[in-house]
Amino acid sequence: MKLLVANWKMNLDLRSGVKLASEIADFVDSNHVKNKIIVCPPFTMLDRVGNVIRDKKISLGAQDCFHQEKGPYTGSISPAMLRDCGCDYVILGHSEPRLYYNEPLDIIQKKAHAAHKYGMTTIICIGESEQERCSGATFRVLEEQLMNFIPSTANSYNTIIAYEPIWAIGSGESPTNDQIEEVSKFVQKVCASNFPFENQTIMLYGGSVSTRNCRDVLSSEYLSGLLIGGASLVYNDFTQIIKSTL
Ligand code: PGA
Repeated sequence: MKLLVANWKMNLDLRSGVKLASEIADFVDSNHVKNKIIVCPPFTMLDRVGNVIRDKKISLGAQDCFHQEKGPYTGSISPAMLRDCGCDYVILGHSEPRLYYNEPLDIIQKKAHAAHKYGMTTIICIGESEQERCSGATFRVLEEQLMNFIPSTANSYNTIIAYEPIWAIGSGESPTNDQIEEVSKFVQKVCASNFPFENQTIMLYGGSVSTRNCRDVLSSEYLSGLLIGGASLVYNDFTQIIKSTL
């Protein structure tokens, strides 16, 4: 089974988000899609989107969470609150919040730990910048992120790793299949030797995934799915990606 995760980022309004989610849920039902589809809307839509997909075959995820359970943390959302809205998944460590909120590396691990405590599956993002790739630091950076982000509570079932090269996000550029394969193999090796995962790590690729490249990217034996930003906002594109990975 493949995993397709829709990361809506800070897009859509309540009406269009609810409509898109309900159309995707109908598509998944009527096409007997076996792959796992996870929709991650902005916080303000979680409850409403959660309602329209309840009892459907798609799951709900959030785009981030805070590491504390409750208290004086203005502007923050706890894993308990996400659970309350029906979220089973949460994206953590995405390069956008890391860049805009200057998140220190150790916060991601704390967030993942808190999310696991509430029974959520974490989608932990890792990825190198263009400069890091050009200077040959990709593998070192990825290993450092894996070692810093993955908490002691992680196992093969509650942890998904998303490889998202920062330079590929929203740029229309993506690594070659060989590059993705090489990195995915490396990530699998690091996870197998450092974490008590029983099975192969569930790993996604993200960064300018489109109707054009989705099938090729998913052909890697080390990958279980895709994390899709821009193309997940367009019904025709997203459903075409679902179809081509059936
Ligand atoms: P993109 O975003 O598909 O628009 O490149 C992916 C992501 O950032 O999760």
